[in-house]
Amino acid sequence: MKVGIIGSGGREHALCVSLKKSEKISKIYCIPGNAGTNLIAENIDLNLNDFEIIKNFIVKNNIELVIIGPEKPLVEGLADYLENENINVFGPNKIASQLEGSKTFTKKLCEKYNIPTAKFGIFHNPSNGIDFIKKSKFPIVIKADGLAAGKGVYICENEDQSIQAINEIFGGKFGEAKKILIEEFLKGEEMSFFVISDGKNYKSFGTAQDHKRVFEGDKGKNTGGMGAYSPSRMENKELDKKILEKIINPTLKGLKELKTEFKGFLYAGLMVINNEPYLIEYNVRMGDPECQTILPRLKTDFGKIILACINKKLETINIEWFDQKSLCIVLCSKGYPEKYENNIEIKNLDEMNLDKNEFIFHAGTKNIDKKIYSNGGRVLNFVVKSESFKKNRVRAIELINKLSWNYGFFRKDIGFKVID
Ligand code: AMP
Ligand code: GLY
Repeated sequence: MKVGIIGSGGREHALCVSLKKSEKISKIYCIPGNAGTNLIAENIDLNLNDFEIIKNFIVKNNIELVIIGPEKPLVEGLADYLENENINVFGPNKIASQLEGSKTFTKKLCEKYNIPTAKFGIFHNPSNGIDFIKKSKFPIVIKADGLAAGKGVYICENEDQSIQAINEIFGGKFGEAKKILIEEFLKGEEMSFFVISDGKNYKSFGTAQDHKRVFEGDKGKNTGGMGAYSPSRMENKELDKKILEKIINPTLKGLKELKTEFKGFLYAGLMVINNEPYLIEYNVRMGDPECQTILPRLKTDFGKIILACINKKLETINIEWFDQKSLCIVLCSKGYPEKYENNIEIKNLDEMNLDKNEFIFHAGTKNIDKKIYSNGGRVLNFVVKSESFKKNRVRAIELINKLSWNYGFFRKDIGFKVID
């Protein structure tokens, strides 16, 4: 079967590598892909905002299945558009994608179905928000409602910071803002929890711990993710049961009552407090870099799992995992998540001899005349799998040093909670 993957990040390269091993998949197109996907798939440079051009390419090339990696095309309804043309899509429709596209949609769902989450208020103008802040305790969390590439969340320690956050969001820093959320600050440990669903049934799809802050010791600005490990150290049967019963099941029931369903990966960003889960946010896709650590642990043929979802037969598949632990360090362009330079050549990638438990997933990279150049803030993902997180980290750092790309930086402390 021919498959098309939409996206160009580390997540999409990891999806591509797992699908490539599948006995069900004969050819992969990546739209638009990166210099890593270019090694195993055919990259097609199409504008992701133009659904018709994407559809025409898929039809012309007899692509039988499309997997949508990132949130933006999902929230904008690419899955609905392609399905209307009788194209098989793995990824949720526009209504279900509101779980990520609108924080107020998710909060209202939480309220209706008693899903544990931070207490919150929704405010439609700056002065109401500021009045509320004046009566609040700190820290407090202020969020833009729509998609903001992981950046529209402020943790405020005092009134001045809160007022600045409210003014920035309503001032349009993350696009036009009609409302904001102000939330209680939850103190606990975060966990990324994944399920895969065919619209009828679902199965757990692993856990991971992301590292969102740019600097070591979880300091500095939020980023898309500087590294991750899988499984999360908090994974246990009792917590798993609580997450499914208190969070995932009522969410899927809520979607059903809206006369829709969820097909694809659902990613619950959780705060765990005393072994009790609270929902911080939903994403309607795999996490990046969580995907890069979870997929190498998958034992079952990934293509078979996705096809079972398309055929609403997920219940017939037993998803198996390797016991090993996996850890990912992201090599970023100096300056990220703020200003950084693109188009800097990355040499030595050809000379990196990786064994079967080591991976370099490309993110912001591109090819020009057979050479590889940087093309984004997060550039390469170094992933190592073994019986020990510590060994993984040592080896990932060794690989990054061997590459010796002087225009990059990375966190050396990924996994600090599970490594002494
Ligand atoms: P989000 O984009 O909603 O995942 O938020 C980004 C990050 O902000 C999360 O990963 C948390 O670290 C933090 N965060 C968001 N909401 C809260 C909250 N209510 N309490 C504590 N931390 C939060
Ligand atoms: N790693 C966080 C995210 O994918 O949103």
